[in-house]
Amino acid sequence: MNPERFQTIDDLRRHAARRIPKFAFDYLEGGAGTEAGLARNRAAFENVLLNQFFLRDVRTRSIAVDLFGQTYDSPIGISPLGLCDLVWPGADRALARAAHKLNLPFILSAAATTEMENVAALAPDHLWFQLYVSTRKDVTFDLIARAGAAGIKVLVVTVDLPVPAKRLRDLRNGFSLPFRMTPKMIWELATRPSWSLATARAGTPRFRNMEKYMPPASDNQSLAAFMAQQITAGLDEDLFARIRDAWPGKLVIKGVMTPETALLGLKHGTDGVIVSNHGGRQIDSAPATLDVLPEIAAAVAGKVPVMLDSGIRNGIDVIKAFALGADYVFSGRSFAYGFAATGFAGIERAAALIGDETHRGLAQVGVTGLKDLSSAAIWSEPAKRQTDK
Ligand SMILES: Cc1cc2nc3c(=O)[nH]c(=O)nc-3n(C[C@H](O)[C@H](O)[C@H](O)COP(=O)(O)O)c2cc1C
Repeated sequence: MNPERFQTIDDLRRHAARRIPKFAFDYLEGGAGTEAGLARNRAAFENVLLNQFFLRDVRTRSIAVDLFGQTYDSPIGISPLGLCDLVWPGADRALARAAHKLNLPFILSAAATTEMENVAALAPDHLWFQLYVSTRKDVTFDLIARAGAAGIKVLVVTVDLPVPAKRLRDLRNGFSLPFRMTPKMIWELATRPSWSLATARAGTPRFRNMEKYMPPASDNQSLAAFMAQQITAGLDEDLFARIRDAWPGKLVIKGVMTPETALLGLKHGTDGVIVSNHGGRQIDSAPATLDVLPEIAAAVAGKVPVMLDSGIRNGIDVIKAFALGADYVFSGRSFAYGFAATGFAGIERAAALIGDETHRGLAQVGVTGLKDLSSAAIWSEPAKRQTDK
């Protein structure tokens, strides 16, 4: 299928929904609880309006961004996605190859379905590794050592998962690994033959990064159970500080939703902050990331880059995030939709759509680069402007 027929991320999303079984699509799409948090992430972007400044020369524009000593061609990177091959087999590898080709960062999840060592070889300068801090210290520190040995230079510690979230879609679908062959499941697989065939060929997705820590000959069932009790609720400042000591590269804290957490990260030497509510997947009462961004950016005060994900679906969202204080942005689902919709070309299409919209957006608000964006680009009602004075 010609990827150019997809004009928005939502076009890719709708096509993806037609190609993958409902339980897998729900796993990708779903949020926590009522999913109000998921909706709030989008609403926040839609509610922000932009000022347009004309009579400025905006012929030469760039959407490139400098981050951690590297210049990325794209202002949007790929967020970590656990169990990515459930979306479509080969997703982790394809995302890594795309990151390398398009010159953007891809954060490989600890819960990925491909070993970091294999993925790192595909994107040596573009792969970051995301750590879930384990209940077992030996596992945590071995994962960190492996990331270093694989040549990965940026470690992202996700802090927003003290306990597994309650995701109603997965619970209602009875989603588990290995797949439970209910009549409903068999029907879903039968109606999505390409996905089913590809998955049968590749084998049920497994948490490959974690297999090493399991007793030998563990089956998928015990690996899934092992994974569920892996992530610690005991990640405190001290443990974060020990991770900092163990990691010589850049250290980023992901899942920051308050200035307090950002400041704790800074206190212990974080090199970057990702404002994220896990794409609305942890609690439904989380505020939108765009809404908490300005306060967090003010607290960080330029000491380290402030990045953001959760809800970005187009280039105008990118403009808004940068205008409100982000130094870089990520999305998870946008790229996963692309891959599920039409393979590698779909990932490229997702990046191209968002990149092109960002490029046009810069001209529309009268600046030539993302670092020139500030709150001046954000429109507010005249009455409010008076009160703010
Ligand atoms: C299917 C799926 C799996 C995810 N797995 C992880 C993960 O393993 N680690 C992590 O830090 N975040 C994980 N996240 C959250 C993403 O990294 C990211 O914060 C979120 O997807 C951004 O929102 P967006 O998908 O709306 O762009 C996951 C999100 C999705 C949709």
